[in-house]
Amino acid sequence: MTQNIVPIISLRRLTAEVHELTMAAPHIARDARPGQFVNIRVDDHYPLLRRPFSIFAADGERLSVVFTVIGTGTRALAAKRPGETLDVVGPCGNDFLAFEPGEYDTAVFVAGGIGVAPFPFLTRSFPANRPFVTYVGGRNSGLIVTEGLHEPHIATDDGSLGFHGTVVDLIRNETADGRFGKVRYFTCGPTRMMKALADHARSEGSACYASLETDMACGVGLCQGCNVERKDGPSKYALVCKEGTIFDTEQVVLR
Ligand SMILES: Cc1cc2nc3c(=O)[nH]c(=O)nc-3n(C[C@H](O)[C@H](O)[C@H](O)COP(=O)(O)OP(=O)(O)OC[C@H]3O[C@@H](n4cnc5c(N)ncnc54)[C@H](O)[C@@H]3O)c2cc1C
Ligand code: FES
Repeated sequence: MTQNIVPIISLRRLTAEVHELTMAAPHIARDARPGQFVNIRVDDHYPLLRRPFSIFAADGERLSVVFTVIGTGTRALAAKRPGETLDVVGPCGNDFLAFEPGEYDTAVFVAGGIGVAPFPFLTRSFPANRPFVTYVGGRNSGLIVTEGLHEPHIATDDGSLGFHGTVVDLIRNETADGRFGKVRYFTCGPTRMMKALADHARSEGSACYASLETDMACGVGLCQGCNVERKDGPSKYALVCKEGTIFDTEQVVLR
């Protein structure tokens, strides 16, 4: 993990609500693995705390993140221009590929909203001999990112694109006939969605690995601000920024 002052190469809209920010960050891009995140100081003055973003793409010297505008930090990020610089720490956290080995037939990638961010990188990096299928859900079509994904199955809450309903409803429909064999889920998105998926995975005896997005302050294991309750293990809590962000959903309490 390194701290770098990096220039912005481009900022563009991927959809009505999703922005892509690309930076020249060779030291981070070189070491990045899918599912890891970077911690960005979006302004020299305010907000002081860094904001975490999953790595959307890492290619040569280029590093990209995608984001929706939520509040102060993401609004400031959306107003940046190419040539301006950002203070970026990364890559941080564990990665999805650490949970890939094992006995299963099909990997099922499940993205909710802006939780789609790590999946294009995972799609590019996933072992070639491992079949996978991708599901993407969002409140509406303006939040659905398909760039970098392989033939995604889409669900929207309002029915504006794809299946009308939640992405977990769509998965329940499409996996009931056992067409994917023994599956392993890899997910990132709103906690409510990941909890529903974890319940579904448990009901069919599948493993489920989720990238958790707790609030973060330091991002490097110092402030204890990002803890998640363990179901069992050496301590009652785990630090999402350091021990995660990806956990077996059977080992943590999703709230
Ligand atoms: C490991 C990790 C990876 C992440 N990756 C991405 C990513 O790739 N793309 C992306 O867009 N976001 C991502 N996020 C979330 C992103 O960091 C937050 O959206 C961002 O911190 C909001 O900052 P802000 O200053 O704009 O909002 P703030 O001004 O801090 O918050 C404004 C309001 O929104 C609420 N809020 C803050 N974050 C969220 C949220 N995630 N969902 C709902 N309400 C929220 C706050 O409680 C507050 O009420 C990630 C978070 C984590 C922990
Ligand atoms: S954000 Fe500080 S310990 Fe995780």
